Amino acid sequence: MKGVILAGGLGTRLLPLTRVTNKHLLPVYDRPMIYYPIQTLVEAGVRDILLVTGGSYAGDFLRLLGNGEAFGLDQVHYAYQEGEGGIADALGQARVFSGGDPIVVVLGDNIVEDSIASHVREFEAQGLGARILLKEVDDPERFGVAEISDGRVVGIEEKPARPKSGFAVTGIYMYDGGVFDVIETLEPSERGELEITDVNNAYIRSGQMTYGVLKGWWTDAGTFESLHRAGNLVAARSRPLSERAFTG
Ligand code: DAU
Repeated sequence: MKGVILAGGLGTRLLPLTRVTNKHLLPVYDRPMIYYPIQTLVEAGVRDILLVTGGSYAGDFLRLLGNGEAFGLDQVHYAYQEGEGGIADALGQARVFSGGDPIVVVLGDNIVEDSIASHVREFEAQGLGARILLKEVDDPERFGVAEISDGRVVGIEEKPARPKSGFAVTGIYMYDGGVFDVIETLEPSERGELEITDVNNAYIRSGQMTYGVLKGWWTDAGTFESLHRAGNLVAARSRPLSERAFTG
């Protein structure tokens, strides 16, 4: 399976930290934020990775990551997102890289405690369609929220004022090669972005969406509060970190 990390956007919720750098280059405890989603993919056995980024500091990712040697990779692929058109727009930059193959997508500011290897294997067995990973949280209104009925996700609402469940849709998504055709049908949302939630709802409507639930902790790191929490969670985690991935 191929992997895509989305690290574009302007990170305006973290200004002034993001005035002279990209959000995903900021530190989370003892390493740059972008290290964590790369590690998530590598630990799940995904070695063919595309990093999508944008803005004025895209070149810094090359200087930091090179060919991915610190993660035991032979090569990292890069793509550039013009502007800040949304998560689905950033994913659209991965069409050529995917070449019609299934992909696992991780948002660049999402950090998980446990390996996602078992979820990736389940999607490989599923073959077609899409799979999302959920996590029960205390503040679902900050996220995409899944409505679940009879063991299926029947709809997702983006940052609802009245969430229909406590299950946040995490920034880890698996799609078949048809996702790029779905993206081409999207219209910008009220915030002017192509929404990943619209992509996921399209798969739900066609009856091709499955889900898993993360057991360990999960956090984003796109606000001051969540960035701070992410650092604390990483610092306290008991799972030994791969030495190799963090010597670079
Ligand atoms: O963290 C999970 C949540 O991420 C989901 O529950 C939501 O459904 C999903 O919309 C998203 O919500 P956010 O509003 O927190 O997304 P944010 O705009 O912070 O973008 C998250 C990452 O996506 C960001 O770290 C980099 C990437 N991104 C985002 C935008 C807007 C891009 O690569 N390009 C973009 O234009």
